[in-house]
Amino acid sequence: MTVVDDIKERLDIVEIVEQTVKLRRTGKNYIGFCPFHSNTRTPAFVVFPETQTWRCFGQCNEGGDLFGYMMKREGWDFNEALRQLAARAGVTLTQQNPETEASVQSQQKLSAVLEAAAGFYREQMLTSPAGKKTLDYLHKRGLSDETIKIWGLGYAPAGWTTLLDYLRQKNYETGMLIAAGLLTERDDGSLHDRFRERLMFPIRGPYGQLAGFGGRTLEPDGIPKYLNSPATDVFDKGRLLYGLDQARKSIRSLNQAVIVEGYMDVIGLHQAGFTNAVSPMGTALTEDQFRLLKRLTRNVVLALDPDAAGQNATLRGLETARKAMDQESEIHFDSRGLMRVEQRINADIRVTALPGLQDPDEIVLENPEAWKQIIAKAKPVVVHVMETLAIGKDLNDAKVKRDIAAQVMPLIDDVGDSVEREAYRQQLAGFLRVDERSLKSARSGPAHSRRKKIESDQADVIPADMLSKPAQKNQMLERYLLHDLFLEPEGLFRLNKTLCNLELDPITESDFQNADTLAGYHLIAESLRQVDYTPSDFVEARLTSALEFEENPSFVEERHMITREKRDQHQVRAVVRMRLNRLEDRLEEIKFLQSDAVESKTYTEEEVQFLYLELLQKRRRLDAAMLAPEAGGSTRVRVASSIKSKSRDKA
Ligand code: UTP
Ligand code: MN
Repeated sequence: MTVVDDIKERLDIVEIVEQTVKLRRTGKNYIGFCPFHSNTRTPAFVVFPETQTWRCFGQCNEGGDLFGYMMKREGWDFNEALRQLAARAGVTLTQQNPETEASVQSQQKLSAVLEAAAGFYREQMLTSPAGKKTLDYLHKRGLSDETIKIWGLGYAPAGWTTLLDYLRQKNYETGMLIAAGLLTERDDGSLHDRFRERLMFPIRGPYGQLAGFGGRTLEPDGIPKYLNSPATDVFDKGRLLYGLDQARKSIRSLNQAVIVEGYMDVIGLHQAGFTNAVSPMGTALTEDQFRLLKRLTRNVVLALDPDAAGQNATLRGLETARKAMDQESEIHFDSRGLMRVEQRINADIRVTALPGLQDPDEIVLENPEAWKQIIAKAKPVVVHVMETLAIGKDLNDAKVKRDIAAQVMPLIDDVGDSVEREAYRQQLAGFLRVDERSLKSARSGPAHSRRKKIESDQADVIPADMLSKPAQKNQMLERYLLHDLFLEPEGLFRLNKTLCNLELDPITESDFQNADTLAGYHLIAESLRQVDYTPSDFVEARLTSALEFEENPSFVEERHMITREKRDQHQVRAVVRMRLNRLEDRLEEIKFLQSDAVESKTYTEEEVQFLYLELLQKRRRLDAAMLAPEAGGSTRVRVASSIKSKSRDKA
């Protein structure tokens, strides 16, 4: 459920409209004079409580949801409406709004200081004797000069104030250097370089803006092994992923992200051609980090050290995770936390354990093929846990079976989707070679209410009863379509071309009946008008969580195989379906306006007759389009043109 849904659920459109418009109940709907055009003769403004929508059948001929209504009434844009309505509904927004201009500017200043430092570190590596030793070290670890340059690696010299002196001489204010996290303050208030005698890894935000550094000691037992920038206005470890700026394109095109544990691993993998790798910065993964990835793909593979995979994925700390679950936002790098985030954001998280003692960078250096196989072996979290628990155990031993079942069942109970849950249960039964019925679920226990909550969140993906209401069904379709177009805005050109071939109108604003999807469509259109960024980057940078829509579930099933052709067909079908649903809505609404419930009938008999015919004709054309190959149908005849000639006959 998006925040918009949450708000809509808590507010009632009738109540809000009634604040300024006098409404009269007629049947199950409400009718009044339209507030958006002057008219005091025929009430043509209808509010539909069932779908929580409104429509003016008069001059405006416009309609929409609560958000659209308030935007029109108050002159708000979508973000403003979101802020205002969230406040009214008592829903807290988490960073809905793009950064303010002022904070963007101060962040850019910090990034600029950091760039100056990165330049200094790089210079030091290439020119100073100690730096050269660092460079040798990197070469020994298999990195090429090209790679070292791409990642901007450098060397922080041993002195206490070398960077400080250098940047001061370049006229940077000390305050800025502190704010950028480059200096450390001694107890007596004096300042010195934070990073000394370290190999420096610049850490960038998702679009390449410099956020901070990780510095690796070169001493075999230097402590800490890695020293990172402190938290600053631009360095928030929980909201950054190392390498994401370089990995973004390929994560999107491969439709998969791989999370590894170290900076060197990310770099090594990219050098070997596996450019979809990123890593956290030595801390547990956070939901924010998953959300960053979720804008690019829902398929995330965690490649963990055998150690970490064993310990974290098994249920050590299960109880703490269980307690933490209800309040905490940090996702624990354990199975339960992962499954929770997986469901909350509808991701597909898989785990693969590295086979030996080697880190990913060492594996690919030796044999890139091996890495492919490791990734191919990634398993869903539940399956991974089950297999990890069984390592070195005798699965014929009844006690072993009981132990494993006791640890895995709570995880399975947390799975929101009932089909998936049942599938895991069967898998576990098969794995342990026990009767499925003997796998008692703990679902009646104290965990019940929480699991229930997860389930109901999950259920929002496609609640069965929603599918029966055209208006809400359209909301789903609009969102699926946008989810696709966000990833590839240029797809809109292809889609419009296909629609045109089918003699249908191109996509317009009127295809989006909900304020959030309409805002999404505007974002797509804007991304195609501007020329400074690739359209997908433009969209991604502006995507707020209110617009993070779900992927079409039929794609999810075939996620690894879906071809562009298939995807295009789904898009065409979605559009045609949306329009058909809307026609159905219109027909219903016209019927309502003609019904005895409405005293002063809004339309004359002839007008209604005319509207009906028009709608029916449109419907015929849409029905035909649905069967065309462009929509995945198999009708070989050019249906669209036959319709065209028919309508010509009539004319
Ligand atoms: P590792 O110790 O596995 O480092 O820590 P690594 O990347 O394999 O480094 P090499 O190969 O020995 O050079 C994994 C990650 O955990 C974080 C860093 O992000 C590191 O890349 N880390 C580790 C810290 O932040 N601080 C530490 O003291 C150690
Ligand atoms: Mn390593």
